[in-house]
Amino acid sequence: MGRLTAIVLGAAGGGGYPQWNCRCAVCRLAWAGDRRAKPRTQASLGVSADGENWILLNATPDLRAQLMATPALQPRTALRGSPIAAVVLTGAEVDQIGGLLALRERQALTVFATADTIAVLDANPIFGVLAADVVERKVVACDEVFSLPGGVIAELFAVPGKIALYLEDQNPPLAAETGANVGVEIVCGSRRLAYVPGAAAVTAALRERLARADVVLFDATLFADDEMITTGTGDKTGRRMGHMPLDGQDGTLAALGSLPGRRILTHINNTNPILIEGSTERRKVEAAGFEVAEDGMEIVL
Ligand code: MLT
Ligand code: MN
Ligand code: ZN
Repeated sequence: MGRLTAIVLGAAGGGGYPQWNCRCAVCRLAWAGDRRAKPRTQASLGVSADGENWILLNATPDLRAQLMATPALQPRTALRGSPIAAVVLTGAEVDQIGGLLALRERQALTVFATADTIAVLDANPIFGVLAADVVERKVVACDEVFSLPGGVIAELFAVPGKIALYLEDQNPPLAAETGANVGVEIVCGSRRLAYVPGAAAVTAALRERLARADVVLFDATLFADDEMITTGTGDKTGRRMGHMPLDGQDGTLAALGSLPGRRILTHINNTNPILIEGSTERRKVEAAGFEVAEDGMEIVL
C-alpha cells in the first residue's frame, strides 16, 4: 500500500485571497505583493494513495489555475487523459462545485456526493456538460464506507452547517446536521485524513471522529465571529454564514486544541488576519498548535 499524499490545491474561503473586489486591510497586503501575505485560491484538496489516481475534494472555480500549478494533476501519457479519477463534494456552494465545469471535454471520472448535493447538480442543466455517459454521479450516504480509485476508502459525515448561500430562504437553519454540508474521511491502510472545509460547530461525535485522524484540515473562515462587520466588509457574522470562528469560547481553537493529530486550517476568508505571517492572530493559532494551509502544501501520511 502506498503512502497517502494530499496536496492543498487552495486554502482560501469562497472568493479566494485576495478577493477580486476587496481592499480590506488583509487583501491590501496581498494586492501590494507583501511577502507576509501569500495569495490563495479557493479551498480544495487533491489526494492520492498510488500517485496515479488523484481524487479532488471539492472542485472550485479556481480549478484550472490549481491544475496549472500542480504537475501531479496534469495529463501524462495518453493523448487524452487525466490523473483526476474522482471528485468528492462536501456541499453545493459555488466554491465546492463551480470547478466541475472546468472538467468537461468527455473525460471519464466519478463524482461522489450526498443525495442533497447530487440533487443540486441534477437540478441545474449546466452540469450536463459533464456528459452522463462518461461522468458518473454516485450518491453516497453519510457514514457509508465507499471505495475511491487508487486504493483508498472514504466516508462522508454530516457536519453542522447550512445549505448553499444561493439556495437560502429568509431563515435557513444554520447548524443543521444533514447531507447538505459534510466532511470527508479518507482512509489508506492505518492512515486517516479528515477534511472539513465548513463547520458551524463541533459536536461530540464530530470531535470523536476528528480525534482518530492523523491529520485534520478544518474550516478557518473567520478569526472573530464579527470580523466582516468590524472590517466593514459585510453585515453577517461567521455563524450566520454557517462557519464557527477560530477565536472565542466556542471557537475552533478551543474545540480542537487538544486533538492528538496534525491540525491544519483551511478555507480561510480574505478578511482573516491569520493570512498575514507574523500577525498577532497568526501567532495565536500557531501557539495553539495549528498550522495554516497555503496553496501547494503537501501532506504525506
Ligand atoms: C461559504 O463557505 O460560506 C461560501 O463559500 C460562501 C460563498 O460561496 O460565497
Ligand atoms: Mn465556502
Ligand atoms: Zn478582503
